[in-house]
Order: sequence, then structure tokens, then C-alpha cells
Amino acid sequence: MRIYDIIKKKRDGHSLSKEEIDFFVKGYTVGDIPDYQMSALLMAVFLRGMTHEETVALTMAMARSGETVDLSAVDGPKADKHSTGGVGDKTTLIVAPIVAACGVKVAKMSGKGLGHTGGTVDKLESIEGYKTSISRERFIEIANKVGLSVIGQSGNLAPADKKIYALRDVTATVESLPLIVSSIMSKKIAVGADCIALDVKAGSGSFCKTREEAANLAKELVAVGKGAGKSVCALITDMDIPLGYAIGNSLEVIEALEVLSGGGPRDLQEVSLALAASMLQLALKNSYEACLAVAQEAIRSGKAKERLLAMVKEHGGRTDILANIGLFPRAAYTTEIRSAQEGYITHMNTESLGVASLLLGAGRIKKEDSIDYLAGITLCKKTGDYVRQGDVLAILHASDPVKFREAQATFIHALDFGTCRPVPAPLIIDRIC
Ligand code: URA
Repeated sequence: MRIYDIIKKKRDGHSLSKEEIDFFVKGYTVGDIPDYQMSALLMAVFLRGMTHEETVALTMAMARSGETVDLSAVDGPKADKHSTGGVGDKTTLIVAPIVAACGVKVAKMSGKGLGHTGGTVDKLESIEGYKTSISRERFIEIANKVGLSVIGQSGNLAPADKKIYALRDVTATVESLPLIVSSIMSKKIAVGADCIALDVKAGSGSFCKTREEAANLAKELVAVGKGAGKSVCALITDMDIPLGYAIGNSLEVIEALEVLSGGGPRDLQEVSLALAASMLQLALKNSYEACLAVAQEAIRSGKAKERLLAMVKEHGGRTDILANIGLFPRAAYTTEIRSAQEGYITHMNTESLGVASLLLGAGRIKKEDSIDYLAGITLCKKTGDYVRQGDVLAILHASDPVKFREAQATFIHALDFGTCRPVPAPLIIDRIC
């Protein structure tokens, strides 16, 4: 088999066989195929697309290109979730304990935040002492003991995706549906769960800016997940507005605890419960309504919060600050942003709000950047709220007050004002099963 012939075949619009796909994924991962040939192939895929069968084969080849996680030692049903990324998305901290409290295990690998989007690993690491890097044996032991364990992604998970993604980034081939789907699903499949609920975000804070883009991605992710033998469903949820009021790692942990304590913002409650119900439905095969009711009861009874605290304890984290949120460390400096305008907030550019939080120190521009766990934004007003001149729009938190100026300017530019109240958008736009 020659890579030249595979490039030519795809260039001319033909489908590749599973063997050809395995050949180029393996060859590129080990370094036998050079970047210039892989670039040509990626551009051919970008222009010609891939069939469903080709996308499944590419996903499986990338999933098997490195380490895979065997969760067979975790007893009983297991479920996972994946979000395509957004601003203020702390749902894993709420959903995983709910699902565990309902008898379905969650042994999950999560990512770090990059750019304007946050990552669960950073939120967990904002809890003093929490270890996101533990042995595989200990990960399984904690999942069996408390029903959930969340750790960081292993460095050797789907290495083919890591190399291909870096090449896509510099060859203008990122925006290709088969390449995005195989990239996301290969990592999910490599980490072992049989039931996967996907949260595909749509709007200005997501990489899918429109609902149509999100729907196309969600349909393909579900189809490819099923093609790979997994039980998969997807929610399309609104990311044209941040989820909840807290943006930034420790602030988001505190807000997640509020929801697990029966309070917190309504939008965050709704999306978290819908995702938990979807995971339970996939794992237990009960109706969605029945799963939603048990998820609600897990919060009401306090069992979900208890599961989170048990997991944090097993991972070495301080549970006293979770039991008493007042003890949670706070940033040394805060400043209020007051409105210079009067009217309704008609839109928030949610990506820019994520960037404002990043500028305060809460996120990273490059993978290797360090972050400030205490930095971030507490929103006081959101889209649809009426604001008078001088009202506080948000509170910025930082360890270095020099960071306030640029973050404040970015925040202000992200908001549009008008005289009419905008029509509220649905939070859960669609479910694809
Ligand atoms: N997220 C991924 O992991 N891969 C993509 O290609 C796009 C988003």
C-alpha cells in the first residue's frame, strides 16, 4: 500500500477502505508518513468529505492509536459525558455526582481549558489537594468505592488525533465534519465507557456558532458513536450566553456546589439535570422522564453532593471548603464593572466573556501556560436583564489588579444593549438519540 495512491484516491472523490485508513493513521502516528503527504490527504478529505463508514473507520483507527482504558474492572453500568466546550460550563461537577448517586458509575477523563473555554481538570485542581493524576488502579478503585472518579487525560490517549489536530490547525483543515467527529469520538472511545451523553453547544461561546452547525455535528457524532458500538445521545444546548453566573475555576466549583445543594442558577440546573437524565437513560434503559425524576431526587436528598465530597476526599482534596463554601479561597482583588448605559442586554458575545476571564488569569492561551485558579468573573446581569446606568454588570476577580483594565474593556465590548427585551432562547435546543 502506498500513501501516494491513498491521497490520489481521495483527491478523485472515492471512498477509502478500512485498511487504507488504518494504514495512514498508523503510518502518520509512528512517523513513516511525512507531514507534507498527510497535509495533502487532509485537504483531500476536507474537500471531498468522508462517508459514514469511512468516518467510523477513522475514529476507531485513531482511538486505537495509543493507550486505551479498560473499564471492565469497574462494576455495573458506566456512563460518560462530553461537552464540545463553552463558557461557565461546570456541568461535569454536577452531573457526574448525580449519576453516581443514582447507581451508574462515572470513571471519567477530562481535559484542561484552552483559549476561551474552561476545562473540568482545572476546576477540580482549584480544590486544594485534589490529584487529577493518579494510577490507573487507584482510578478504578475510587470509581468502584464512591461511584465516580474524574482524572486528567493521559498523555498517550489517541496520539494520532494529537498529531493530526496539530497539522489541521496549520493547514486550514480544522472545519471538516468527518475530521472533527473522528477527533472528538476517538478520544471518548479510547477512554472506555459504553454510554456517552454529548453536550453539543451552539452559539457565540461555542466553536459551532449556529444551531445548524451544532445539529449537523451532533447527528454525525451520535451516528459515528453508534457505528462504533456505543450507546450515544446528544443534547444541543445554548451557548450564546454563559451557563450560570460564574466563569473561572474556583468560582465555578462554588456555583456547582450551590446547584448540588438544591439552589444555584436555573439554567445550570436545567442543563445539568437533562445531561444526567440522558446518561441514566442510556445506562439504565428507563424512560427519560423517570431518569429526570431520580436525578432531581439525588439533588434533593443531598446524595449527589455527598458523592462529590466523597470523590474529592479520595482524590486528596480538601472537603471542608466544599462543605462550607465560605472557606473557599478567593482572589486577592476584585473590581466591579458598572454600566454606562441603560436598557436591556440584548446579546452577550460569550466567547469574548471567556477571553475576558482568560485575561484575568483563569485560562490559557497555550497548552503549557499556568493558570490562576481564583481568577474569573461573577456575572450580575445576563442577556434579557434590564440595566440602569451605574448598575453592577459583573465582578472581576484577579490576583493581580493590573489585569483588570484589559479584561474590563473586553467585557464591555461583549455586551449589546437595546430598548426591547430579547425573546428568551430555549436552553435545550434539541435531543438527538
Ligand atoms: N474538538 C476536538 O477535540 N477536535 C476537533 O476537531 C474539534 C473540537
